[in-house]
Parts: sequence; C-alpha cells; structure tokens
Amino acid sequence: MIGVYFSGTGNTKHCTEKLVHLLDETAQVIPIEVKETAEEIARQDFIILAYPVQYSNVPVIVRNYIKNHAALWKNKKVLCVATMGLFSGDGAGCSARLLKKYGAEVVGGLHILMPDSICDVKLLKRSPEKNRKIIRTADRKIEIWAEKIRQGRYPKNGLHFYDQIAGLLCQRLWFYGKTKDYSDQIKVNGACTGCGQCTRLCPMGNLSLKGSRAVSGNRCTMCYRCISACPAQAITLLGDKVVEQCRYDKYGSQ
Ligand SMILES: Cc1cc2nc3c(=O)[nH]c(=O)nc-3n(C[C@H](O)[C@H](O)[C@H](O)COP(=O)(O)O)c2cc1C
Ligand code: SF4
Ligand code: SF4
Repeated sequence: MIGVYFSGTGNTKHCTEKLVHLLDETAQVIPIEVKETAEEIARQDFIILAYPVQYSNVPVIVRNYIKNHAALWKNKKVLCVATMGLFSGDGAGCSARLLKKYGAEVVGGLHILMPDSICDVKLLKRSPEKNRKIIRTADRKIEIWAEKIRQGRYPKNGLHFYDQIAGLLCQRLWFYGKTKDYSDQIKVNGACTGCGQCTRLCPMGNLSLKGSRAVSGNRCTMCYRCISACPAQAITLLGDKVVEQCRYDKYGSQ
C-alpha cells in the first residue's frame, strides 16, 4: 500500500499520513509532484490518492497526473480521499470516475472537512480554536475509518449518483472555468522582497525571480502554497489582499 497526495497548505498531507500510517505504519506516503511517485505506485496494489477539492473538482495537477499515467491504474485498488473547507459534492467521485476509466478498482471515497485554504477571500475564515476543533473531528473520522477499512469496509463519500448531481449543480456548472486548466491569475505586489521562497515551494515551477521580484507564469494549479507562505504576504490569486495565511501547521500540532 502507498499514500499519494497533493497538498497546498498541508491539510491533505496530514490526513493522508494519518490514514496511511494507521493502516500500515511502514507504508510510504509521497507527494504527487515527486518524480519517483509513479515508480512507487507501479509496485503497489492498493493506493490511497488524496487531494484538496477545488470547486467540487480535482486540482488540475492531479487530473493531469492521472491522465498522463493512464497505464498505471489498471487493476489497482484505489481509495480516493478529498479534503474540503465546507462542501464538495462528489469531490472523491471526480477522480474515481477518471481512475475507473483507466482500469482501476475504486474501493471507496472519503471526504474530510478541514480548515479552509483560500488565504485571500474572507469567506469561511474561522477562529484558530474552531480550526483546531475541525482538525480534531477530522482526525477522529480518519481513526474510525481506518478501523473499518482494516475490517474490509470502505467509506463511499462522493461516489453516489446524487453526490455527482450535487457537485455539478452546486459548483462545477458555475465554476468549471476556474478549474478547466492551469491559471494565469497569480498576482505579486510591490511588497515582494525577492526572497525566492515561493519559487522553491511552487509544485508547478510557475514562479521565478526577475531581478528582485517574483513573477508568475500561466501554470498555477491554485494550491495556495506560495500565498500561505510568502513572508511579505505579497501574493494573491482569487482575491486582492491576503486575509489570513492558512497553513495546517498553524493549528495542527496544538
Ligand atoms: C481554489 C480552491 C477552491 C476550493 N474549492 C473548495 C470547494 O469547492 N469546496 C470545499 O469544501 N473546499 C474548497 N476549497 C478548500 C480546500 O479544499 C480545503 O481547505 C483543503 O483542505 C485544502 O487542502 P490542502 O491544505 O491540502 O491544500 C478550495 C480551495 C481552493 C484553494
Ligand atoms: S515569497 Fe513573497 S517576498 Fe519572497 S519572492 Fe515570493 S512573493 Fe516575493
Ligand atoms: S503559483 Fe502558488 S498557488 Fe499557484 S501552483 Fe504555484 S504555489 Fe500553488
């Protein structure tokens, strides 16, 4: 078994590590953007694939990974895990359908409510205490399902037809344009000091330094990793001002 995840602000990384290590403490848990991930997946029968839901859809980097490694999924057992800030309809179902197309046996879907990761929009911002409570509830849900999975029972979150209708009607129909492809909407303002941290963190290599300022290309997968980490709070995407830098490590270890 192996855990493979994509995570912008740390929520999905935490959930994947917790679930996988409860099931098998010797199993590997690796980020999708690491080159060797495909070789490791090829060696395993059971894969836990996890990502943050974006507008009830799978982040482009993850969708493209699945498609670009189409041969990898045949006859693999996959549990699709989607973390979310509020609601994701068929967040797990979206990758499940794609994986089935490539021959995977999707054994289950798990949705986990976590703190919101959209640093530059006020909506869904909660107090640190509320975020810690959300994480405790998420951890409990993971523990309960780890126990059931050990007994051969799998969650089916997001896999039903009505979940698909909910995801479509509540989100994808209206916001499909946002997740159709990589984004060119990252903005870097004059507060940038040119420290280069964002360029090292971006999983897409979408940021680079030009002189003493970071500049963005058109391959952003909207993970908010750079925005949540920039020491000058100089980067925005959906909004125009950083409201709060959202990172799992701000709440998770307390
Ligand atoms: C661009 C974007 C879109 C999002 N859309 C949704 C959504 O449709 N529903 C939801 O519940 N959460 C949504 N979220 C919140 C994240 O899915 C959630 O906070 C997730 O746990 C972040 O995980 P990460 O820390 O691993 O990146 C969105 C986040 C981003 C950045
Ligand atoms: S992390 Fe922030 S301050 Fe540093 S280079 Fe990137 S945008 Fe500029
Ligand atoms: S530019 Fe920032 S938000 Fe976009 S993919 Fe890179 S790290 Fe993520």
